[in-house]
Amino acid sequence: MLIGVPKEIKNHEYRVGLTPESVAELVHAGQKVVVETGAGLGIGADDKAYRAAGATISKTAVNIFKRADMIVKVKEPQPVECKMLRKGQILYTYLHLAPDPKQTKALLKSGCIGIAYETVTSDGGELPLLKPMSQVAGRLSIQAGATALQKEHKGRGVLLGGVPGVAPAKVVIIGGGVVGFNAAQMAVGLQADVTILDRDPDVMEDLSNYFKASAKVLRSTPAVLADLVRTADLVVGAVLVPGAAAPKLVSRAMLKTMQPGAVLVDVAIDQGGCFETSKATTHADPTYIVDDIVHYCVANMPGAVARTSTYALNAVTLSHAKAIARKGWKQACLDNEHLKEGLNVAEGKLTYAAVGDALGLKYISADEALT
Ligand SMILES: NC(=O)c1ccc[n+]([C@@H]2O[C@H](COP(=O)([O-])OP(=O)(O)OC[C@H]3O[C@@H](n4cnc5c(N)ncnc54)[C@H](O)[C@@H]3O)[C@@H](O)[C@H]2O)c1
Repeated sequence: MLIGVPKEIKNHEYRVGLTPESVAELVHAGQKVVVETGAGLGIGADDKAYRAAGATISKTAVNIFKRADMIVKVKEPQPVECKMLRKGQILYTYLHLAPDPKQTKALLKSGCIGIAYETVTSDGGELPLLKPMSQVAGRLSIQAGATALQKEHKGRGVLLGGVPGVAPAKVVIIGGGVVGFNAAQMAVGLQADVTILDRDPDVMEDLSNYFKASAKVLRSTPAVLADLVRTADLVVGAVLVPGAAAPKLVSRAMLKTMQPGAVLVDVAIDQGGCFETSKATTHADPTYIVDDIVHYCVANMPGAVARTSTYALNAVTLSHAKAIARKGWKQACLDNEHLKEGLNVAEGKLTYAAVGDALGLKYISADEALT
């Protein structure tokens, strides 16, 4: 199979669908790979690295879309890319179709086979191709928060770990899932005073067993949160209520009770954010101030660490890419129910119920598409 890797064209997107190491594995498995010139520059991989891995380099995306049997990307195809997709061509990438009727219709029109990273499942009912980005965002949230706490960013001028004789910063993490756990690991590692809030008893028990005395784990209630926020230096919003917008857990009124220069990092901003005063920001201008509180609300945090994110993503996407290349999309999906869950569109038909329900579009089951 010829696998095509175009350069990502979404604004400020530096990740790339395949690393040179992944290309080498695919080539070793007997596949051919064509990479657009400069596609890997954002992760520090030049054309020479891809050539050394066995890929050919194409000057244009048009050429790649025209020739490749499967396109491997990171972000959802932009309108110009949707137009280049053709019937039966496999598109393996993040799609996030539910809030995006325009892209959904364009993909249906193209007749391509859209396999979405974010809906591929695993035995534990998790979303393993989404998880690494939550891990990255969680870890980065502490780094971003630590920077925002510095005076030049209008923060309180507090060092997370303190120093001998000076108390460490108080870090409150709301939501102890993948983002929250990874944030807590970093904050504990920096010797901050860490409290994690969650509502799920199993999550609380796991966190307690893991962190023992190095972090406090509390049940999330409005009263507990209000109390903690008052003295916090850094609050990380990491809640997720599946299928719903993030609940607004920190109100504007609560900001007035906080210490001036304290920092809110709203990782849940991609679901609307869990602070009332959150609005999405970009890496170019990541923070803003409301009532003396620094807000960091970047919606695509992993983009800032494109190299780490790309390698983390490839670690979970490559095995499926290899299976699709070896067997074709139908057989690969028939052989692996978790990959089958990733099928969102196939030859002009929507094959993912939640997207159909969200957009009011007709859909068939993935099984129907596969027969
Ligand atoms: N901004 C970014 O770049 C970026 C990147 C990755 C993930 N995210 C977002 O981060 C959020 C968290 O993702 P995740 O992978 O950790 O999800 P997750 O499902 O692993 O964890 C969410 C946790 O929130 C808890 N929770 C729900 N309601 C709560 C409440 N009222 N109080 C306290 N805890 C509550 C749940 O019990 C769960 O443990 C999601 O919105 C996700 O989309 C953003």
